[in-house]
Amino acid sequence: MRVGVLTGGGDCPGLNAVIRAVVRKGIKDYGFEFVGFRDGWRGPLEGVTMELDRAAVRGILPRGGTILGSSRTNLMKIEGGVERVKDNMAGLGIDALVAIGGEDTLGVAARLTEQGVNVVGVPKTIDNDLNATDYTFGFDTAVNIATEAIDRLHTTAESHHRALVVEVMGRHAGWIALHSGMAAGANAILIPERPFDIDEVVGWVESRFTTEYAPIIVVAEGAHPKDGQMELATGEKDSFGHVRLGGIGQRLAEEIEKRTGKESRSVVLGHVQRGGTPSAFDRVLATRLGVQAIDAVRDRDWGKMVALQGTDIVRVELSAATEKLKTVPPERYAEAEVFFG
Ligand code: F6P
Repeated sequence: MRVGVLTGGGDCPGLNAVIRAVVRKGIKDYGFEFVGFRDGWRGPLEGVTMELDRAAVRGILPRGGTILGSSRTNLMKIEGGVERVKDNMAGLGIDALVAIGGEDTLGVAARLTEQGVNVVGVPKTIDNDLNATDYTFGFDTAVNIATEAIDRLHTTAESHHRALVVEVMGRHAGWIALHSGMAAGANAILIPERPFDIDEVVGWVESRFTTEYAPIIVVAEGAHPKDGQMELATGEKDSFGHVRLGGIGQRLAEEIEKRTGKESRSVVLGHVQRGGTPSAFDRVLATRLGVQAIDAVRDRDWGKMVALQGTDIVRVELSAATEKLKTVPPERYAEAEVFFG
């Protein structure tokens, strides 16, 4: 069998580990050949490929990013896109696709399956917001990066008696904020799932100052206050219609300074959370998902996504994975709230 592999959406530590596992197991156990598609769905759409043999995947396990490149090309918005993909796959003699991506990439994969394309999906996102899988690879790495940053910010905040607001990624789900904030002992954690009350946040900040500690507030980029007045969208949208966010950390720091009279600073961790080498946990998870994905291809089990449930890798319908976002449940937030203020 000839198998195409692509990585779509925002990049994520562990993508290369999946590619390596898919290729290594596919060649060794099943004698498959592989073709790398460049830059997400742009690859099969435009027929842009790269060689993907054993040599191509040598040494990539600890490397961040993706050797295939990525993009947010939305195939479904392109006139005749599906037919072009089918034609290009046929022309290249490709029988099946392994699509590694998040909600958008896998949403396209689910639609392609309905149209008769042989696809198996692998979930990825640092945001950990994909349904039907307990964790996505990349999340652990992002949380570790954010935790280390918050640890460092604690000492400088205390030296200067300042409030520090740390903005982390998470457009619709606050998983990175929740985990890094809990791990690093944040004074408050603000997530998109729970609109915050600015008076309450200011109260937590003030109470922290009274104990001679400096407050650290971890805020997810998609968090917003109850009255909706401090949210800052750039006005731009990507090809999947997502609004580009930015600025809640800065706005919050200004508001805290204004209301408390204490100096406040904001730090946006941004793409640092997505770059660099994956953690050991993510390398193992990504490798296991890759191994299981190529088994699904061997079984011709199309339209499935491999997923982590408990400690097992299982197969779920691609549609189940993308039908809703996995957000932070109230009981998980309540565990973090114990330590606010
Ligand atoms: O991968 C998801 C994500 O990390 C979101 O948390 C964030 O909003 C988005 O990517 C930003 O991605 P980009 O800057 O690549 O558009």
